[in-house]
Amino acid sequence: MQYEKKTIGVLTSGGDAPGMNAAVRAVVRAGNVKGHRVVGIRRGYQGLINGDIEEMNLRSVCDIIQRGGTVLYTARCPEFVKEEGQIKGVEMCHKMGIDGLVVIGGDGSYRGARALSNRGIPCIGIPGTIDNDIASTEYTIGFDTAVNTVVESVDRLRDTSQSHDRCSVVEVMGRRAGHIALHAGIACGAIAVLIPEREFNVDVDVIDRMKETLKTGKHHFIVIVAEGVGDSKRICEYIEEKTGIESRLTVLGHVQRGGTPTAKERVYASVMGYRAVELLEQGKGNRVVGVQNNRVVDFDINDALEMTKDIDQYLYKVAYEISI
Ligand code: ADP
Ligand code: F6P
Repeated sequence: MQYEKKTIGVLTSGGDAPGMNAAVRAVVRAGNVKGHRVVGIRRGYQGLINGDIEEMNLRSVCDIIQRGGTVLYTARCPEFVKEEGQIKGVEMCHKMGIDGLVVIGGDGSYRGARALSNRGIPCIGIPGTIDNDIASTEYTIGFDTAVNTVVESVDRLRDTSQSHDRCSVVEVMGRRAGHIALHAGIACGAIAVLIPEREFNVDVDVIDRMKETLKTGKHHFIVIVAEGVGDSKRICEYIEEKTGIESRLTVLGHVQRGGTPTAKERVYASVMGYRAVELLEQGKGNRVVGVQNNRVVDFDINDALEMTKDIDQYLYKVAYEISI
């Protein structure tokens, strides 16, 4: 079926995530191949307000599928949360002839996309955040790479912890969610994983387990703490106080946001970017794409923002039971 030619805008918003470039590339390529004009908006909604917009074509997205970060830059834009900012965004879309927008970001960015859709600019959201905290999708772009980065770093920490009979406490990102911590905890064989979604007692869930394990001949430990738990420094000191085992805290920080995206990121980001263009050319807006049961699906943004997501109970049980 032949659709009428459109101008599609694409932007990345919120925290950057490895794999965002693969999504940008897919939007530009799919758009162009299907006969549409594609423009890139730099620095998220701030760039939309300011008119920081560039023409994109098949060649402008060469050599980016393997790069972390986002070639379109990203930003957090408080002005866009307010009505005045959104109106400026709509006016800029009209000025630049933008018929529809693909927004790659987290659920804050989805709220911005919904606001624009409500004001007549069809928007499609693509989940991009290392935190994997978007309810309408099992997977968000950046999560897989971030978990692999944590695992690689903790493997290094394990070498030195083992050599010194120490405990390594590692704080990982995730904002208010514990998905990175849980997945990395299992992959690294952590003795304990502390996440904001589950209540815990450091004496029972960390100290007692370490003491039990010491009796079985284990002398070095990895404890993963999600940043959403807070106070990893105090937890680390408390572990040393109570067990007598020298403990060191490592806050991995922004290293988790960078690096070459994994193959999984590139594949899903490409398919989701393609789907976003298909939806816009079919005249659909106010939707988000995502992954459910390994398939790319799409939902109304309002429904998506109503959904809730918990951590995987079974993974939590496995993490707890076998790391002893
Ligand atoms: P993420 O998209 O990763 O969740 P943020 O929560 O920082 O990151 O949101 C990114 C941007 O989306 C914000 O800086 C703001 O410009 C926009 N945004 C967030 N919440 C809203 C909202 N309620 N209405 C309109 N825009 C929003
Ligand atoms: O949402 C991605 C994320 O990296 C969170 O894990 C973290 O809490 C936050 O962004 C850090 O934000 P900033 O880059 O502004 O320090």
